[in-house]
Amino acid sequence: MDKIRIVGGNELKGTIPISGAKNAALPLMIASLLTEEKLILENVPRLADVALLQRILGNHGVDITTNGKRNGDDPYAGQTLEIDARVIVDTTAPYDLVSRMRASFWVLGPLLARIGVAKVSLPGGCAIGTRPVDFHLDALRALGADIEIDAGYVVAKAPNGLKGARIVFPKVSVGATHTALMAAALARGDSIIENAAREPEVVDLADCLIKMGARISGAGSSTIHVEGVARLKAARHAVLPDRIETGTYAMATAMTGGDVMLAGARPDLLESALDVLRQAGAEIDATNEGIRVRRNGAGILPVDVTTAPYPGFPTDLQAQFMALMTKAKGNSRITETIFENRFMHVQELARLGARIHLEGDTAVVEGVERLTGAPVMATDLRASVSLVIAGLAAEGETMVQRVYHLDRGFEKLEEKLSRCGAQIERISG
Ligand code: EPZ
Repeated sequence: MDKIRIVGGNELKGTIPISGAKNAALPLMIASLLTEEKLILENVPRLADVALLQRILGNHGVDITTNGKRNGDDPYAGQTLEIDARVIVDTTAPYDLVSRMRASFWVLGPLLARIGVAKVSLPGGCAIGTRPVDFHLDALRALGADIEIDAGYVVAKAPNGLKGARIVFPKVSVGATHTALMAAALARGDSIIENAAREPEVVDLADCLIKMGARISGAGSSTIHVEGVARLKAARHAVLPDRIETGTYAMATAMTGGDVMLAGARPDLLESALDVLRQAGAEIDATNEGIRVRRNGAGILPVDVTTAPYPGFPTDLQAQFMALMTKAKGNSRITETIFENRFMHVQELARLGARIHLEGDTAVVEGVERLTGAPVMATDLRASVSLVIAGLAAEGETMVQRVYHLDRGFEKLEEKLSRCGAQIERISG
C-alpha cells in the first residue's frame, strides 16, 4: 500500500489550483439517471470516489466517456464527463459497491423517480458514525413511494410515479436534501422541502437540475420549492470549486506559515472557515484569481469552533482545524455536532506530540511549541489530510499510511503541496 512521506518544517509558498468539488460532482453524476439525454459535466475532479461512482453508474447501464488529456493541457484542469443514461439495464445497486461509497446510496431517488423501481443496498456504518438513511426513506415515502427493507436492501416502488408533497426534515441532511430534490424534480405536482440543507453543493445540484429543465426555487435557503416536470433533458454544467480542499490548504498555510494563492477558490463558499482562520492569525485576501493566504507575525492563536450545517463551520474541516490548533499559543475547544464519532484523528495527532483530550463531543486542544514526525494513519479522508497538515509543520519525518483515503478526496495532493515547497512524496508499496 502506498504511503506519503513528509519532512516537515518548510513554509508553503506559491499557487495551489483548486479542483472541482467531490461532494458536488458525486450528486451531479447521479442526477444523470434522471434523464434519457446526455449530461455533460465539466471540472470534475480526478478522484477515486469519482472513478468508483463511474463504475456504480456503469452497473446501471450508464455510459460515461471522459475527455482525454492532450499535450499542453493544464495538468490540474478538471475532466469533462459525458454521461448518457438513456438505457437503464439494472435498477439494483449491490452491497459490494454501495458499502464502498455511501454517496452511491443516492441513486435511489432518481432511479425511483424515473423508472418507478429501485433496489439499493443499505450502506452500513462508517468510520465517522452510524449515518442512518431514514430521512431519505421518509422523504421518498412522503412522495408516495412504497418502501420495504429486505435482506439489507431498500426495495422501493412507485408504479404510478411519485407525487409532489411537503417534506420536512427533522435535522439538516445534505444527502437527504439531494434525494428529495432529485425525486421531486420528476414527481407529479409541487413539492416543498423544509429544513433543507443550504450547502453550496445542494445549490450546485439545483442549478444543474434547472439547466436540465427542472423547476426549482429557493435552493440555498431552508425552504426549497419544486414544481415537478414529466421529463428532464440534456444539459452542460461545470462543478463548483471544492470549498473543503480550499479550506484544507488554507489551514496548511496558516500552520506552516508562508504565502499561498488558492487559485480558482471562491471565498463566498467558506466564509465561516475563513473568519475562523483570520481569528487564528491568518491574513486572507480575496482576489480575482482566488484566495491568498498568509500568516501574520503573531503566530497561531487559539480559537474555539463548533461544527454546524452550512453556513456554519463545516464538519469536513474539523480535523484539519484541529491540526492547526495543536500548535496554537493556548487552548482551544473544538465541538463536533454533525457526526458522533469524528475524532479518530485525535489519537494520531497525539502521536505527533499534540495534547488533546476529549470531553464528550468536544476536543480540548492544548497548543504545544513543537510537533515531531511519526508514522500515522487514519480511517477517513479528512482525518488523513489533517495528519498531512500536522506533518508539514512537524519536525522530522511523518509517514502517513492508508493513502487510499486521501486519494478519495484530494486530487494530486503531493504535487500541489510540493510545488509550494513542501517536502512530501508518495512511496509506492
Ligand atoms: C455529506 O454527507 C457529505 N458527503 C459529507 O462529507 C459531510 O460530512 C456531510 O454531508 C455533512 O456536511 C457527501 O457530500 C458525499 P448528512 P451526508 O446527511 O449527506 C444524520 C466527506 O468527508 N442523518 O448531511 O451523508 C447523519 O447521521 C464526507 O467528504 C440521519 O440521521 O451527511 C448526520 O448526523 C464525509 N438520517 C447528519 O444527519 C439520515 O437519513 C448530517 O448528515 C441522513 C442523515
